[in-house]
Amino acid sequence: MKKLLGLFLTLIAFGSSAQGIAKKIIEIPSGDMKLTLMVGEDDRLYQLGFGDSDAEIKVPEKLPSREMEFLPCYGNGVITEAAIQATHTDGNTSTDLNYVSHRNEQFGNGVNQTVISMSDPAYKFYVDIYVRCYPENSMMEIWNTLRHDERGGKVVLYKYASASPIIKAKEYWLTQFCGRYKHEATMKEEMLSEGIKVLDSKLGVRANQFRIPSFLLSCDGCARENEGKTFAASLKWAGSFQLAFEVDWNNNLRVLTGINPVGAHYNLERGETFTTPAILWTYSDKGKGETSRNFHRWADSHSIRDPKKDRPIILNNWEATHCDFDEKRLVALFEDANKIGAELFLLDDGWFGNGEYSRDDDKHGLGDWEPSAKKLPNGLAHLAKQAVKRNVGFGIWLEPEMVNPNSRLYNEHPEWIITQQKREPILGRHQEILDLTRPEVQLYEWEIIDKTLSPSKDISYVKWDCNRYVTQPGSTYLTPSRQSHLLIDYNNNLYSLMDRFASGYPDVMAMLCSGGSGRVDYGSMQYFHSFWPSDNTDPLDRIKIQWGFSHFFPAKTMSAHVTRMGKRHLKLAIDVAMSGAFGIDLAIDRATDAERAQLAEGVRLYKSKIRSLIMEGELHRLVSPYETPLAALSYVAPDKDRAVVFLYQTEDGNVPTVRFTGLDTDKKYTVTELNLPEGEKSKFDNNLTFSGRQLMEEGLSNPLAKQFESAVLELKSI
Ligand code: GLA
Repeated sequence: MKKLLGLFLTLIAFGSSAQGIAKKIIEIPSGDMKLTLMVGEDDRLYQLGFGDSDAEIKVPEKLPSREMEFLPCYGNGVITEAAIQATHTDGNTSTDLNYVSHRNEQFGNGVNQTVISMSDPAYKFYVDIYVRCYPENSMMEIWNTLRHDERGGKVVLYKYASASPIIKAKEYWLTQFCGRYKHEATMKEEMLSEGIKVLDSKLGVRANQFRIPSFLLSCDGCARENEGKTFAASLKWAGSFQLAFEVDWNNNLRVLTGINPVGAHYNLERGETFTTPAILWTYSDKGKGETSRNFHRWADSHSIRDPKKDRPIILNNWEATHCDFDEKRLVALFEDANKIGAELFLLDDGWFGNGEYSRDDDKHGLGDWEPSAKKLPNGLAHLAKQAVKRNVGFGIWLEPEMVNPNSRLYNEHPEWIITQQKREPILGRHQEILDLTRPEVQLYEWEIIDKTLSPSKDISYVKWDCNRYVTQPGSTYLTPSRQSHLLIDYNNNLYSLMDRFASGYPDVMAMLCSGGSGRVDYGSMQYFHSFWPSDNTDPLDRIKIQWGFSHFFPAKTMSAHVTRMGKRHLKLAIDVAMSGAFGIDLAIDRATDAERAQLAEGVRLYKSKIRSLIMEGELHRLVSPYETPLAALSYVAPDKDRAVVFLYQTEDGNVPTVRFTGLDTDKKYTVTELNLPEGEKSKFDNNLTFSGRQLMEEGLSNPLAKQFESAVLELKSI
């Protein structure tokens, strides 16, 4: 009912009926959540509520205090952290925003948008607040545009948050998803106390290396799977970001999110519009399980590319060969891919560069995207054809944004890199970043993509990599007064390039990779089918990494490959990879017959029983590896007729029962263990039947107890 109501944006302008201090009340519901704003008699825009759509909102008798402004500005009475800070053309460092008007726009699928126009009473400075609602998913997408018509030059924007809603509760528990290379999306939770907690990135490019721009907030104790008032949010921005959480003296929490303004003041010309990236917010009183599913459903309906298209089973050659391969070996691998049932061969790094710049290691050749005559004498189109002939698709690795100093490109255009003048350029993975603010670079990077893909229709997949971040944010292209625009313009131009790729090659599928997952955001994901969560494919570590990302990104977007990393049992590696977009990245030509048979069986199972649930199923995290020695998660079909359950022992110790969620209480389910190694008997109550109620209330007994044990169970209703 709540959802139904949410389908209609009810914009109740109390207008004349709003009494006393309120000139207007603006209610913006989106499924289970609601934003309530008030235009005060002083024309300022105050927030009355943000969160539960059922919460009772009272119009106050007195004007709220200034720290309740929805978009607080610096310098004229607001003393908490400002969302907007601008210096006007006459040098005035203060801004004040008054409500001017608002409008409502309806899109298809029940999506609607409220736009609230604000202006400074003393300056021709304008801010439009956009709130786009997806009521089906209890999702709100909020952003601002800023512009001015002031005489006498530029307005300097020092702060430009995407949104800054206030949450009111007794307690605030913040979960961040931090880490480092090979340890991405590690969950850390803490209770916030008075003051500001800032989670940020200043890396500019590949900016999510140490944390992703997403977080959870729980308002009644730490976040739980199936209960509790929980917010989840994610910023649609690939560049530096700042997430600031300020608990004030009244114990209200303001959450300011957006581009990191540090070192990035923006000189706004008269008539120019600055658009902030959007922040996605969802809320549920049923815990983080539901906020995760809100994100997944929203991504499916409104964000990621081709949500209904099966993610192909990939055989990747990076872990197997690194840059050391030739056509003969690759063709043999195509044969092997075909034999085990893989659907696409992804040729990784090392296929380009010639002569002294041959890409034989990571110190050479980046930037020179001609196929290696030494390794691939017959070229890329011929190679791709060899794969397709064997019934295997062909994909290619690209890192268009980068250059090695050891390359022809660098020798020809040393001025194309991002670096600071009069400083020694600092390398990262022996490479530099090309300056995407420069028009020639924009064209060059497009041509890298276009010249690689256009000669051959047989190339149907791209892995877009990006292996370093910015340490010296300077540009030889930008004028002195625009140097601070570099990382903002870079990322906007990056999105344009991604957009050009996705619309120019709509049938080419794509994986977003960034030295693992240094770039995972919904701004980028609209152009991709999946992302590479980590270069760490040791299944033991991957369990937790994929667990972290699952809070925001659906299983079909998480590329998960079976490798030899960690030297674990192949069964564990296969069971872990099958819980995402499955693939294999090991030297299959050097595997034993038994291992090949095991991999082929994994592929067969994935195709026949699992992939449809990865694509369509709803995630239910059942037992957390952060709290117990077991990780258990399931994907339940939308009609609840089928589910697949993954159980992994990350340490020794038995969790005696696993209680399910998301099943149909009245249906009866047969439990069957899948992917059992040949000759092994299931330790589970195999092939027995239980009611959904039993499985959810009493649970299924779990015989696993030893580190590295794993199981995949299929639940089928009868
Ligand atoms: C990055 C990626 C890897 C691989 C290498 C190639 O590290 O994350 O998957 O593609 O680059 O250089």
